[in-house]
Amino acid sequence: MSILNTLDTLADTAPPQIQATTTLQELEDLRVQLLGKKGQLTDILKGMATVSNEERPLIGQKANHIKTQLQDALDQRKTQLEAAAWESELQGDQTDITLPSRRTRLGKRHPTNQTLQDVIACFTRLGFSLKEGPDIETDYYNFEALNIPEHHPARAMHDTFYLNTGYLTTGHVLRTHTSPVQIHEMEKLEPGQALKIIVPGKVYRCDADVTHSPCFHQVEGLYVDKNVSFAQLKGTLSHFLKEMFGAKRQVRFRPSYFPFTEPSTEVDVACFKCSGKGCNLCKQTGWLEILGAGMVNRNVFRSVKLDPDQVTGFAFGLGIERIAMLRYEINDIRLFTENDYRFLEQF
Ligand code: DAH
Repeated sequence: MSILNTLDTLADTAPPQIQATTTLQELEDLRVQLLGKKGQLTDILKGMATVSNEERPLIGQKANHIKTQLQDALDQRKTQLEAAAWESELQGDQTDITLPSRRTRLGKRHPTNQTLQDVIACFTRLGFSLKEGPDIETDYYNFEALNIPEHHPARAMHDTFYLNTGYLTTGHVLRTHTSPVQIHEMEKLEPGQALKIIVPGKVYRCDADVTHSPCFHQVEGLYVDKNVSFAQLKGTLSHFLKEMFGAKRQVRFRPSYFPFTEPSTEVDVACFKCSGKGCNLCKQTGWLEILGAGMVNRNVFRSVKLDPDQVTGFAFGLGIERIAMLRYEINDIRLFTENDYRFLEQF
């Protein structure tokens, strides 16, 4: 048989063989067998040495043509077999890609912390700097220096936790308010120096019901300088309350009594549920009591060795949980510490 004929036979028989392969490996083996270095085509072309000069270019052309044809057929079959393999792999895969993904839960600030941060942010903008004090105080710092002597009726209102060892009292208490930090900070003052601080912290009282918790948070404020006025106190607190509860919110200063301030005031905002008409949130008064404040009592200045004729100051104190309860209409203070997801998720 002439080389041309052998080439024709190869061109006829190879394509069905290629088409008949069922795996990629089988196809690769066939490729080597047909077009590889020791394959059939190479084998056929070995006979070139014996052909005439006229025939040689013809054979070369034909061989090239067949080689391309076979290569194309091999490539095409490879694509088919790869697609089939991919499909069967997908069918065997047990992952259900239509299954909805698991819900991720993002953390967020606790409502107490959120309120605390808002209060601090407002006073920081007004130039108050942040201070902290110890949770355990002596009787002196918690009461005495704040003009609450022993047997003063105001002590009864504080439901104090006393720290005892057996039957001996140590003279230490869990602080019932953040006001003792006023004393610590004023004790450090040099004559003529001013002080403008905001003091967040935990406080403790032996009391528990829906509006009282044995541990809660307060923020104390103190501004001491020459000629600090009650007008400045009103301006500062009005600004703060409008920033917290809205610019149109009405604010009212009511005369009150605290041993460590004179004069003293309690500050209310118009009820944000009924806007002053009277409802269950404001107990039909139209007002919500927000904080206590006043001008620093002269006796307090005396206890920190400051001359009450030289310095003046204002102070205020507010309960964070109380503000958060009013703000978010939370009716049970225990919710803040129960850490129930259904509650916390709402903020
Ligand atoms: N210490 C007070 C309390 O716990 C709150 C308070 C009232 C603080 C008036 C002050 C103030 O600084 O001037 O009830």
